[in-house]
Amino acid sequence: MEKFIPVVVIKELSETDTILTALKGAGIHCAEITFRTACAAEAIAYAVKNHPDMEVGAGTVINAAQCEAALAAGAKFIVSPGLSVAVAEICNERNIPYYPGCVTPTEIMQALELGITTVKFFPANIYGGLKALKALSGPFPQVKFIPTGGVDRGNIDEFLAFDKVAAIGGSFFVKEALEAMAKKGE
Ligand code: 3PG
Repeated sequence: MEKFIPVVVIKELSETDTILTALKGAGIHCAEITFRTACAAEAIAYAVKNHPDMEVGAGTVINAAQCEAALAAGAKFIVSPGLSVAVAEICNERNIPYYPGCVTPTEIMQALELGITTVKFFPANIYGGLKALKALSGPFPQVKFIPTGGVDRGNIDEFLAFDKVAAIGGSFFVKEALEAMAKKGE
């Protein structure tokens, strides 16, 4: 999996090219396009077709219907803010990586029972940050985390230094990439 997972919100389909091009310009070849807008599935399908050099997944997938729509659009991975057994089962069947949000030992145990060993840790800053990840890694050494939510340039390095961190998620990657692209164009 890619080390950086930008959380992408596409309000208008026409923004897809700009955002994905900016991310690539920043050296990031991954995008988690979130089901927070009506055009999410369409944007995923567009991105998969027009940006084949990017690992395009779906985020904020909170039920089976959204998961089906994301997979039909070509999403290569699925992310949820919490854990959905229905989504996990669909992804298991299709052999698609699923990263559910898990912040408690019980949620992590549920993920493990579903065969999932990499989970999103969200919102990372609210649920104890790196300190919590280290504590959870005691009983769950087999689990890798994707801290997301409140991660920024100020704390990314400390997360990356921890070997149980599989990747970092965040919307700040998009913001930075767009700013960098605008600067280049000035
Ligand atoms: C998410 O859904 O993963 C979050 O909205 C990302 O949080 P951030 O905006 O603090 O990076």
